Parts: sequence; C-alpha cells; structure tokens
Amino acid sequence: MTDNVIACKVAKPDIAMRLRRETRDAHCQIEAVMSDLLFTTPIDLQAYKRMLSRHRDYYAQIEASLSEFNSTAVMIRERSKISWLNSDIDYLEDGSEQHRKEQPLDYALTTKLPVNEAQAWGFLYVFEGATLGGAHILDKLRHEPCFDAEQGLRFFHSYGRKTPAMWRAFQSALQQFVASTPGSEEQVIQGANQSFSNMNDLMKGVQVD
Ligand code: HEM
Repeated sequence: MTDNVIACKVAKPDIAMRLRRETRDAHCQIEAVMSDLLFTTPIDLQAYKRMLSRHRDYYAQIEASLSEFNSTAVMIRERSKISWLNSDIDYLEDGSEQHRKEQPLDYALTTKLPVNEAQAWGFLYVFEGATLGGAHILDKLRHEPCFDAEQGLRFFHSYGRKTPAMWRAFQSALQQFVASTPGSEEQVIQGANQSFSNMNDLMKGVQVD
C-alpha cells in the first residue's frame, strides 16, 4: 500500500464532507416535503404562497440572528434572500406591498436560533445549500403558466449563474472559520441539523388540501 493510500484511509473528513453526510437524512426529509408541495400539476398556488411567507418570516428571523456574529454578519450582508422572497410574494399578491404588514402569521413561530457563532455557520450552510436545490426546482417550475417570464420564482432563481461560485466561496469561508476555531465542527453540524429541523416544522401544515 502506498503512503498516499494510507493517508487517504486515515484522513479526517473535512467539514464539507461531514456536513453533507451528517445532515443527509434531514435533507431527504425536507426535499420530500418540498417536492410534495411544489411538484403537483398544476401547482397549488395557495400552498406556494404560504410556503413563501413562512420562508420569508423564518429567513428574516435567522438572518437577523446571523447578523449578531462577526463572521456570519459579513457573509449574510451579500447573501440575504429576503428581497427575493418579498418580490415573489408581491407578485403573487397582485403586486401590492401592503399585505406584508397586514397578514397575521397563520402558524406559531417557535424557532430555535443559533446560540453561538459555530452554530450560526451551520444555519448559513443550510440557507446556502438550498440555493443548489433551487436551480433544480426552478427548472421544474419555470414551465408553469402562472410563472410567466419566471415572475414569482426569484427565490428559486437565487444567485443564477453565480450559484456555483457563491457555493465555492461559502465552502472556503466555512473551511477557514473551522480551521481557525478549534472544536467548532460539532457545533456547526448541530446548527445545520437544528436549521433543517426548524424548516421541517415550519413546512408542516403548509399543504392543507
Ligand atoms: C424539492 C426540494 C429540493 C431539492 C430537489 C433539492 C435538491 C438538491 C440537490 C440536487 C443538491 C445537490 C446540488 C449539487 O451538488 O449541485 C442539493 C444540495 C443541498 N440542499 Fe437541497 N434540495 C431541495 C430542498 C432543499 C431545502 C428546502 C434545503 C434547506 C432548507 C436544502 C438544502 C440543501 C443543502 C444544505 C445542500 C448542500 C449539500 C452539500 O453539502 O453538498 N435543499 N439539494
């Protein structure tokens, strides 16, 4: 056996590999829930709107929390998704911005927030990873007549052609954070699983029909 092969066998999996592996079940769960919601033909627009509103409320809460930690605050400044969600909601609600303030929540928002900076990176991982799935969702939904010229799909359009580069930049920043913060890996993974769990709770009851 060569030295390289031995090195591979004992190499510690990096944070990207660990996150993918240790959140796989949670991803499968949310993917199944979202697929049921989004890939009916024709799409249930009421359920789609409820999904967007819940996402917007949740993302607003978590993005505010990520802004409280130095390193994730820098990241979220150029990665906020609130305006995308608002523009989809505005389009589906006849273009008016009024409804945003008037709509009461149709569910209890009992979100668990990140309690330290490492967990915040785990939460950010879930938001950034969702942009990868977004491209697949966009491909399936762009043919629905209600999304003429991709209106109503801004959130899933995400970073568009920049998505792979944004993902690589995120992974590299995460790697740097973990390398400079000994013992943070477990907390990052815990944060990611907490975020998936929040989102699964959030999506319960979106489809009422
Ligand atoms: C119908 C819904 C979804 C589909 C079809 C889907 C599909 C995918 C696919 C195909 C990838 C891999 C993309 C690539 O490597 O190029 C991916 C990655 C990922 N998705 Fe989803 N996804 C969905 C929903 C979500 C949601 C709602 C979230 C989070 C709230 C999420 C979080 C992630 C994460 C974190 C990754 C990165 C995995 C890694 O570490 O490589 N996904 N998704």
